[in-house]
Amino acid sequence: MGLGSYLPPRKVSNADVAARLDTTDEWIRTRIGIAARHIADPATATSDLAVEAALRAMKSAEVEHVDVVILATATPDHHVPGTAPLVAHRLGLRQVPAFDLGAGCSGFVYATTVAAGLIHAGTASTVMVIGAEKMSAVIDPADRSTAPIFGDGAGAVVLAAGRADEPGALGPAAWGSDGEHADAIYIPGGGSRNPSRATADLKNRYVHMKGNEVFRHAVRRITHVTEESAAAAGWAIQDIDRLIVHQANARISVAVANTLGIPPERVPSNITHVGNTSAASIPLLLSHSAINGQLKPRQRVVVTSFGAGFTWAATTLLWPIGLQVLA
Ligand code: COA
Repeated sequence: MGLGSYLPPRKVSNADVAARLDTTDEWIRTRIGIAARHIADPATATSDLAVEAALRAMKSAEVEHVDVVILATATPDHHVPGTAPLVAHRLGLRQVPAFDLGAGCSGFVYATTVAAGLIHAGTASTVMVIGAEKMSAVIDPADRSTAPIFGDGAGAVVLAAGRADEPGALGPAAWGSDGEHADAIYIPGGGSRNPSRATADLKNRYVHMKGNEVFRHAVRRITHVTEESAAAAGWAIQDIDRLIVHQANARISVAVANTLGIPPERVPSNITHVGNTSAASIPLLLSHSAINGQLKPRQRVVVTSFGAGFTWAATTLLWPIGLQVLA
């Protein structure tokens, strides 16, 4: 296994956000748990962030080749073509199968589930899974209900065939979706429902979010999918050493941990520094938690997420031994 991540250098503080929006540092800190987020420069695209994270993951895994590249993103460079082939090309993996996967903030865990399936089926023996987002490209800087929340970044893992019981092997996944809530987090324009020529209004190109509705469903779904995934691995909730929760809102993670009865010190967080980075959130949190010593070899880890769709997904693993994480 290899793990790497990348944040664009520019940091935008709450004070910067509050200077142009009707909000305050205090509101953002207390209601969301964010102090700053990293925002890519205009010339940087999602593929640029993805390549940086993927290079670090390959170095971490000590490999120069992978059999498949899956890129989880809601912010591809273009509608057509997919961004993954471009990323694979820039990694020097020109001929490998490479495709994008769109499942909102659950995209990374969905993609690891697909990757594990490819490995189990014998279709591939190494798979690169990347979560990368330039959320700033789809967030309305004038919308105070989304602009303080989202940030840019990327994280990647290299998964490799091995024994099912060895540290680093992914356990059974629990995942699902409910399209009844498709409009709770969505970009109204630019797709086939509302093509670009009908969406001259720039606001239709931005994320629209019903924050309250998302919050309630996120707590419920993350709680349930965590329970399902732990049960499928044969673990009781008390057995979970670390719960890696998608960084959407610090209050969501706290509510999930409280509902499950998991002590806060077992629920690492980096939202304060990075905001909600959608599909990049989980690999960024894994990477930062490993580097700061919150993830240790053989710990029982549940990785759990929720996002637009709605979608949700969780999986388990024993934290690998000797993993050199690069960020
Ligand atoms: N600054 C100051 N006040 C704000 C604000 C901001 N940035 N955004 C909203 N408010 C105000 C509202 O206008 C409202 O004021 P009112 O009571 O006078 O009408 C009040 O704060 C409460 O609004 P509400 O929308 O109920 O806030 P909230 O506590 O639900 O927080 C979110 C809003 C968006 C932070 C929260 O709902 C959330 O995090 N939802 C989940 C979002 C998410 O995770 N999305 C990604 C999923 S993957």
